[in-house]
Amino acid sequence: MMMMTTAPLYPNPTGYTVAVLGATGVVGSLIIKLLEERHFPIKALKPLASKRSAGKAITFHGQAVLIEEACPEAFTGVDIVLASAGGSISAALVPEAVKRGAVCIDNTSHFRMDATVPLVVGGVNEEALVGHQGIIANPNCSTAQLMPVLKTLRDAAGLKRVIVSTYQSVSGAGKEGLDELRNEAENDFTNGKVAGQSDKFAPSQYERTKFARPISFNLIPQIDVFATEGVEAGYTKEELKLIHETKKILNLPNLQITATAVRVPVLVGHSESVTVDLDRPLSLETATQLLAETADVVIANTHEGYFTPRETAGTDPVYVSRLRKDTSNPETGLNFWVVSDNLRIGAALNAVRLAEALHRLKLVRVPSLGCV
Ligand SMILES: NC(=O)c1ccc[n+]([C@@H]2O[C@H](COP(=O)([O-])OP(=O)(O)OC[C@H]3O[C@@H](n4cnc5c(N)ncnc54)[C@H](OP(=O)(O)O)[C@@H]3O)[C@@H](O)[C@H]2O)c1
Repeated sequence: MMMMTTAPLYPNPTGYTVAVLGATGVVGSLIIKLLEERHFPIKALKPLASKRSAGKAITFHGQAVLIEEACPEAFTGVDIVLASAGGSISAALVPEAVKRGAVCIDNTSHFRMDATVPLVVGGVNEEALVGHQGIIANPNCSTAQLMPVLKTLRDAAGLKRVIVSTYQSVSGAGKEGLDELRNEAENDFTNGKVAGQSDKFAPSQYERTKFARPISFNLIPQIDVFATEGVEAGYTKEELKLIHETKKILNLPNLQITATAVRVPVLVGHSESVTVDLDRPLSLETATQLLAETADVVIANTHEGYFTPRETAGTDPVYVSRLRKDTSNPETGLNFWVVSDNLRIGAALNAVRLAEALHRLKLVRVPSLGCV
């Protein structure tokens, strides 16, 4: 009897050399997990992080892989970079990687609004990948989860106006955000805060490093810094990201869209309350049917069957519920509630899907340098 031999999942000799920049972060570590789970063809994995992590090991397909300090030379011989180490680090290192022939999928905000950089959500506007110049941007997490839903509504009835209020979990602020909620909540329990004492009478003793105000048992209507000029003065950068990125991804430069972004004491999963005004009437039945047929979207079929971040975190879909008429605009207005794991479609899953799309479309190359 002939023995069948199968190629090892890792190292896959016909795969790519893939660098994960920010490999120890909440996004980077999930990227590595998803590359493994989804069997992305990898010849060599290069986990890159700060000097603090260099020399430690991560596990990939059961094998220990050493973390290296991120520096320009680390990208020599790399085909694909998945970057999530922060905007200033991408600004410095992504062009160095491209110069060395790597295609970079960047999770930070640094390149998103650059006209030469495609801003892409898998399954929504993958056509924008064609003609990339070496850098592809992943949108902000609160933008990304809204895109499959808004695309379906745009295609069905046109989008005139969108009003979004976000309820964003602390994991959107990385591992320090998670630590701050856990530690502050523990401190509040220890100091009797949960018995209902307000800060006025019993100020928190906790020393914050990440958020501008207490996040435990609280809400913070500020994510990122405030804009100070023009009509955008008073908006936070997070709100402006959602506004501008949505227009770019949906190719609707004149869309009327506004947003309020709020940090909430949830560990993982962003939620959004959304009101849309469509160009043409769309019945609730048709909207429900179309969203049920939309890839990546799961829609509740009862009012009581609404979704919450705690119950959906760790799963891939975008969950839509509370779909109803806008009573102030019943002809063309809809209200709904969107929940998704911000680390997945909002970051790591989208990045890995874009790498898969580049592979499928034979776009793993920097135009000036040829194909691999
Ligand atoms: N969290 C989300 O939901 C989300 C969604 C979309 C986009 N993003 C973006 O993704 C980026 C990272 O987010 P995150 O949530 O994963 O943050 P995180 O948990 O704080 O992780 C940051 C990562 O960057 C690395 N790093 C820090 N300083 C570095 C340096 N000087 N050189 C090389 N690597 C360095 C860290 O390595 P060490 O462990 O060695 O410090 C760590 O691996 C941010 O730009 C964020 O805006 C995040």
